[in-house]
Amino acid sequence: MGSSQGKVVLVTGAAGGIGAAAALLFATEGAAHVALADRDADRLEASAGVVRDSGGSASAHAFDVTDEAAVAAWVDGVAAAHGRIDCAFNNAGISQPSTPLHEMEREAFEEVIAVNLTSVFLCLKHELRHLVAQGTGGAIVNTSSGAGLVPAPGQPHYTAAKHGVLGLTRLVAREYLRNEIRCNAILPGITDTPMLRGGGEDLTDRAREGLRKFSPTGELLDPTEVAAAAVWLCSDAARRINGQSIVVDGGGILH
Ligand SMILES: NC(=O)c1ccc[n+]([C@@H]2O[C@H](COP(=O)([O-])OP(=O)(O)OC[C@H]3O[C@@H](n4cnc5c(N)ncnc54)[C@H](O)[C@@H]3O)[C@@H](O)[C@H]2O)c1
Repeated sequence: MGSSQGKVVLVTGAAGGIGAAAALLFATEGAAHVALADRDADRLEASAGVVRDSGGSASAHAFDVTDEAAVAAWVDGVAAAHGRIDCAFNNAGISQPSTPLHEMEREAFEEVIAVNLTSVFLCLKHELRHLVAQGTGGAIVNTSSGAGLVPAPGQPHYTAAKHGVLGLTRLVAREYLRNEIRCNAILPGITDTPMLRGGGEDLTDRAREGLRKFSPTGELLDPTEVAAAAVWLCSDAARRINGQSIVVDGGGILH
Protein backbone atom coordinates (compact mmCIF):
# COMPACT_ATOMS: atom_id res chain seq x y z
CA MET A 1 0.00 0.00 0.00
CA GLY A 2 1.39 3.43 -0.96
CA SER A 3 2.17 6.08 1.59
CA SER A 4 -0.50 8.46 0.22
CA GLN A 5 -3.19 5.79 -0.03
CA GLY A 6 -6.68 7.28 -0.35
CA LYS A 7 -5.63 10.86 0.42
CA VAL A 8 -6.93 14.00 -1.26
CA VAL A 9 -3.87 16.17 -1.85
CA LEU A 10 -3.33 19.82 -2.86
CA VAL A 11 -0.05 20.90 -4.52
CA THR A 12 0.92 24.45 -5.56
CA GLY A 13 3.70 25.29 -8.00
CA ALA A 14 2.77 22.03 -9.75
CA ALA A 15 3.43 23.07 -13.36
CA GLY A 16 7.06 21.97 -13.14
CA GLY A 17 10.05 21.25 -10.96
CA ILE A 18 9.53 20.04 -7.41
CA GLY A 19 5.73 20.54 -7.42
CA ALA A 20 5.18 18.50 -10.59
CA ALA A 21 7.43 15.74 -9.26
CA ALA A 22 5.50 15.73 -5.97
CA ALA A 23 2.12 15.57 -7.71
CA LEU A 24 3.24 12.49 -9.63
CA LEU A 25 4.73 10.88 -6.54
CA PHE A 26 1.60 11.48 -4.43
CA ALA A 27 -0.40 9.77 -7.18
CA THR A 28 1.93 6.79 -7.59
CA GLU A 29 1.85 6.43 -3.78
CA GLY A 30 -1.91 5.92 -4.00
CA ALA A 31 -3.51 9.36 -3.50
CA ALA A 32 -7.24 9.33 -4.22
CA HIS A 33 -6.88 12.67 -5.99
CA VAL A 34 -4.17 15.28 -6.58
CA ALA A 35 -5.30 18.88 -7.21
CA LEU A 36 -2.47 20.69 -9.00
CA ALA A 37 -2.29 24.50 -8.89
CA ASP A 38 -0.02 26.95 -10.72
CA ARG A 39 -0.33 30.20 -12.64
CA ASP A 40 1.16 28.64 -15.81
CA ALA A 41 -1.97 26.99 -17.26
CA ASP A 42 -0.34 25.17 -20.20
CA ARG A 43 2.49 23.56 -18.28
CA LEU A 44 0.08 22.79 -15.43
CA GLU A 45 -2.26 20.87 -17.75
CA ALA A 46 0.75 18.91 -19.02
CA SER A 47 1.76 18.02 -15.42
CA ALA A 48 -1.78 16.88 -14.63
CA GLY A 49 -1.68 14.79 -17.82
CA VAL A 50 1.48 13.05 -16.62
CA VAL A 51 -0.27 12.19 -13.34
CA ARG A 52 -3.30 10.82 -15.20
CA ASP A 53 -1.07 8.82 -17.57
CA SER A 54 0.46 7.17 -14.51
CA GLY A 55 -3.03 5.98 -13.50
CA GLY A 56 -3.66 8.75 -10.96
CA SER A 57 -6.61 11.09 -10.54
CA ALA A 58 -5.63 14.73 -11.11
CA SER A 59 -7.16 18.14 -11.71
CA ALA A 60 -5.45 21.32 -12.91
CA HIS A 61 -6.33 24.71 -11.39
CA ALA A 62 -4.69 27.76 -12.97
CA PHE A 63 -4.54 30.84 -10.73
CA ASP A 64 -2.14 33.16 -8.92
CA VAL A 65 -1.40 31.96 -5.38
CA THR A 66 -1.24 35.56 -4.13
CA ASP A 67 -4.95 36.00 -4.98
CA GLU A 68 -6.83 35.08 -1.80
CA ALA A 69 -10.22 34.66 -3.47
CA ALA A 70 -8.68 32.24 -5.99
CA VAL A 71 -6.89 30.25 -3.27
CA ALA A 72 -10.11 30.00 -1.24
CA ALA A 73 -12.12 28.93 -4.29
CA TRP A 74 -9.52 26.26 -5.14
CA VAL A 75 -9.55 24.67 -1.69
CA ASP A 76 -13.36 24.95 -1.42
CA GLY A 77 -13.79 23.38 -4.86
CA VAL A 78 -11.47 20.44 -4.20
CA ALA A 79 -13.11 19.76 -0.81
CA ALA A 80 -16.58 19.91 -2.38
CA ALA A 81 -15.64 17.63 -5.27
CA HIS A 82 -13.88 14.99 -3.15
CA GLY A 83 -15.67 15.28 0.18
CA ARG A 84 -12.60 16.45 2.10
CA ILE A 85 -8.93 17.40 1.88
CA ASP A 86 -6.16 15.47 3.66
CA CYS A 87 -2.75 16.89 2.69
CA ALA A 88 -1.30 20.03 1.17
CA PHE A 89 2.10 20.87 -0.28
CA ASN A 90 2.45 24.68 -0.40
CA ASN A 91 5.35 24.94 -2.79
CA ALA A 92 4.92 27.71 -5.38
CA GLY A 93 7.74 30.22 -5.43
CA ILE A 94 9.87 32.56 -7.52
CA SER A 95 13.45 33.73 -7.44
CA GLN A 96 14.85 37.03 -8.69
CA PRO A 97 18.35 38.20 -9.66
CA SER A 98 20.60 39.05 -6.74
CA THR A 99 20.77 42.69 -5.63
CA PRO A 100 22.42 44.22 -2.54
CA LEU A 101 19.78 45.26 -0.02
CA HIS A 102 20.72 48.95 -0.21
CA GLU A 103 20.02 48.95 -3.96
CA MET A 104 16.85 46.84 -3.92
CA GLU A 105 13.58 48.41 -5.03
CA ARG A 106 10.70 48.01 -2.59
CA GLU A 107 8.58 46.52 -5.42
CA ALA A 108 11.07 43.70 -5.99
CA PHE A 109 11.15 42.91 -2.26
CA GLU A 110 7.38 42.92 -1.98
CA GLU A 111 6.87 40.71 -5.03
CA VAL A 112 9.07 37.93 -3.66
CA ILE A 113 7.47 38.21 -0.21
CA ALA A 114 4.00 38.00 -1.80
CA VAL A 115 4.69 34.89 -3.87
CA ASN A 116 7.00 33.04 -1.48
CA LEU A 117 5.53 33.95 1.92
CA THR A 118 2.10 35.62 1.73
CA SER A 119 0.90 32.83 -0.57
CA VAL A 120 1.88 30.25 2.04
CA PHE A 121 -0.15 32.17 4.64
CA LEU A 122 -3.15 32.24 2.26
CA CYS A 123 -2.92 28.54 1.43
CA LEU A 124 -2.51 27.63 5.11
CA LYS A 125 -5.49 29.81 6.07
CA HIS A 126 -7.91 28.14 3.67
CA GLU A 127 -6.52 24.62 4.07
CA LEU A 128 -6.77 24.91 7.86
CA ARG A 129 -10.30 26.30 7.58
CA HIS A 130 -11.32 23.00 5.97
CA LEU A 131 -9.15 20.66 8.04
CA VAL A 132 -10.40 22.17 11.31
CA ALA A 133 -14.05 22.00 10.21
CA GLN A 134 -13.63 18.44 8.97
CA GLY A 135 -12.12 17.32 12.30
CA THR A 136 -10.14 14.67 10.43
CA GLY A 137 -6.61 15.86 11.14
CA GLY A 138 -4.25 16.34 8.22
CA ALA A 139 -0.72 17.05 7.11
CA ILE A 140 0.76 20.15 5.47
CA VAL A 141 4.24 20.68 4.06
CA ASN A 142 5.60 24.11 3.08
CA THR A 143 8.60 24.65 0.82
CA SER A 144 11.28 26.83 2.36
CA SER A 145 14.91 26.70 1.18
CA GLY A 146 18.44 26.51 2.46
CA ALA A 147 17.97 30.31 2.43
CA GLY A 148 15.48 29.77 5.27
CA LEU A 149 18.48 28.95 7.49
CA VAL A 150 21.52 30.53 5.83
CA PRO A 151 21.14 33.95 4.16
CA ALA A 152 21.44 33.78 0.37
CA PRO A 153 23.84 36.53 -0.81
CA GLY A 154 22.06 39.38 -2.59
CA GLN A 155 18.67 37.85 -1.76
CA PRO A 156 17.12 39.87 1.10
CA HIS A 157 13.60 39.19 -0.21
CA TYR A 158 14.07 35.45 -0.78
CA THR A 159 15.96 35.03 2.51
CA ALA A 160 13.26 36.88 4.48
CA ALA A 161 10.45 34.97 2.78
CA LYS A 162 12.00 31.55 3.32
CA HIS A 163 12.81 32.33 6.97
CA GLY A 164 9.18 33.45 7.30
CA VAL A 165 7.92 30.15 5.90
CA LEU A 166 9.69 28.34 8.74
CA GLY A 167 8.05 30.64 11.30
CA LEU A 168 4.57 30.01 9.89
CA THR A 169 5.29 26.27 9.78
CA ARG A 170 6.19 26.17 13.48
CA LEU A 171 3.23 28.34 14.46
CA VAL A 172 0.78 26.07 12.65
CA ALA A 173 2.44 22.96 14.11
CA ARG A 174 1.99 24.35 17.61
CA GLU A 175 -1.46 25.88 17.32
CA TYR A 176 -3.17 23.07 15.39
CA LEU A 177 -1.63 20.13 17.25
CA ARG A 178 -4.92 19.83 19.16
CA ASN A 179 -6.64 19.35 15.80
CA GLU A 180 -4.17 16.60 14.86
CA ILE A 181 -2.97 18.71 11.95
CA ARG A 182 0.77 18.45 11.38
CA CYS A 183 2.84 21.07 9.57
CA ASN A 184 6.44 20.67 8.45
CA ALA A 185 8.81 22.34 5.99
CA ILE A 186 11.26 21.07 3.43
CA LEU A 187 14.39 23.07 2.60
CA PRO A 188 15.64 22.00 -0.82
CA GLY A 189 19.24 22.35 -1.90
CA ILE A 190 20.17 23.28 -5.46
CA THR A 191 17.61 21.33 -7.48
CA ASP A 192 17.41 20.98 -11.25
CA THR A 193 14.16 22.80 -11.99
CA PRO A 194 13.09 25.57 -14.40
CA MET A 195 13.72 28.10 -11.57
CA LEU A 196 17.46 27.43 -11.84
CA ARG A 197 17.52 28.04 -15.56
CA GLY A 198 15.58 31.33 -15.56
CA GLY A 199 13.35 30.17 -18.41
CA GLY A 200 16.28 29.11 -20.66
CA GLU A 201 18.63 26.13 -20.95
CA ASP A 202 21.62 27.42 -18.99
CA LEU A 203 21.94 27.68 -15.23
CA THR A 204 21.57 31.23 -13.90
CA ASP A 205 24.61 32.85 -12.25
CA ARG A 206 22.84 32.51 -8.89
CA ALA A 207 22.32 28.78 -9.47
CA ARG A 208 25.99 28.28 -10.40
CA GLU A 209 27.08 30.14 -7.27
CA GLY A 210 24.71 28.07 -5.11
CA LEU A 211 25.94 24.86 -6.68
CA ARG A 212 29.56 25.77 -6.04
CA LYS A 213 28.86 26.62 -2.39
CA PHE A 214 26.20 24.15 -1.32
CA SER A 215 26.49 20.98 -3.38
CA PRO A 216 28.88 18.49 -1.74
CA THR A 217 29.26 16.57 -5.00
CA GLY A 218 28.81 19.44 -7.47
CA GLU A 219 25.65 17.71 -8.70
CA LEU A 220 22.18 19.21 -8.95
CA LEU A 221 19.46 17.43 -6.99
CA ASP A 222 16.70 15.72 -8.92
CA PRO A 223 13.24 17.23 -8.19
CA THR A 224 11.88 13.78 -7.36
CA GLU A 225 14.51 13.37 -4.62
CA VAL A 226 13.24 16.57 -3.02
CA ALA A 227 9.55 15.78 -3.59
CA ALA A 228 10.00 12.41 -1.86
CA ALA A 229 10.63 14.20 1.45
CA ALA A 230 7.38 16.17 1.13
CA VAL A 231 5.38 13.06 0.27
CA TRP A 232 6.86 11.18 3.22
CA LEU A 233 6.17 14.08 5.62
CA CYS A 234 2.50 13.97 4.52
CA SER A 235 2.31 10.22 5.10
CA ASP A 236 1.15 8.42 8.22
CA ALA A 237 4.69 7.05 8.62
CA ALA A 238 5.65 10.62 9.65
CA ARG A 239 2.72 11.02 12.06
CA ARG A 240 5.04 11.94 14.96
CA ILE A 241 6.95 14.55 12.92
CA ASN A 242 5.55 18.04 13.50
CA GLY A 243 6.98 21.55 13.25
CA GLN A 244 10.22 20.33 11.69
CA SER A 245 12.40 21.75 8.94
CA ILE A 246 13.98 19.02 6.85
CA VAL A 247 16.94 20.07 4.71
CA VAL A 248 17.09 17.97 1.54
CA ASP A 249 20.48 18.76 0.05
CA GLY A 250 22.80 15.84 0.66
CA GLY A 251 24.49 17.74 3.48
CA GLY A 252 25.59 20.75 1.42
CA ILE A 253 24.40 23.26 4.00
CA LEU A 254 26.98 21.86 6.45
CA HIS A 255 29.87 22.96 4.19
N1 LIG B 1 15.25 24.68 -7.40
C1 LIG B 1 15.95 24.97 -6.31
O1 LIG B 1 17.18 24.86 -6.30
C2 LIG B 1 15.23 25.39 -5.02
C3 LIG B 1 16.01 25.47 -3.87
C4 LIG B 1 15.38 25.85 -2.68
C5 LIG B 1 14.01 26.10 -2.67
N2 LIG B 1 13.30 26.01 -3.81
C6 LIG B 1 11.86 26.28 -3.74
O2 LIG B 1 11.14 25.19 -4.28
C7 LIG B 1 9.85 25.63 -4.70
C8 LIG B 1 9.57 25.07 -6.07
O3 LIG B 1 10.47 25.66 -7.00
P1 LIG B 1 11.13 24.86 -8.21
O4 LIG B 1 12.58 24.85 -7.99
O5 LIG B 1 10.40 23.60 -8.46
O6 LIG B 1 10.93 25.92 -9.39
P2 LIG B 1 9.86 26.02 -10.56
O7 LIG B 1 10.04 27.38 -11.11
O8 LIG B 1 9.96 24.85 -11.44
O9 LIG B 1 8.46 25.89 -9.77
C9 LIG B 1 7.79 26.94 -9.16
C10 LIG B 1 6.39 26.99 -9.72
O10 LIG B 1 5.67 28.00 -9.01
C11 LIG B 1 4.83 28.64 -9.96
N3 LIG B 1 4.48 29.97 -9.49
C12 LIG B 1 5.32 31.02 -9.34
N4 LIG B 1 4.62 32.08 -8.92
C13 LIG B 1 3.32 31.71 -8.84
C14 LIG B 1 2.13 32.39 -8.49
N5 LIG B 1 2.13 33.69 -8.14
N6 LIG B 1 0.96 31.70 -8.51
C15 LIG B 1 0.94 30.40 -8.88
N7 LIG B 1 2.05 29.70 -9.23
C16 LIG B 1 3.22 30.36 -9.21
C17 LIG B 1 5.64 28.69 -11.24
O11 LIG B 1 4.84 28.87 -12.39
C18 LIG B 1 6.37 27.35 -11.20
O12 LIG B 1 5.68 26.35 -11.94
C19 LIG B 1 9.89 27.16 -4.63
O13 LIG B 1 9.21 27.59 -3.46
C20 LIG B 1 11.37 27.47 -4.52
O14 LIG B 1 11.61 28.69 -3.86
C21 LIG B 1 13.87 25.64 -5.00
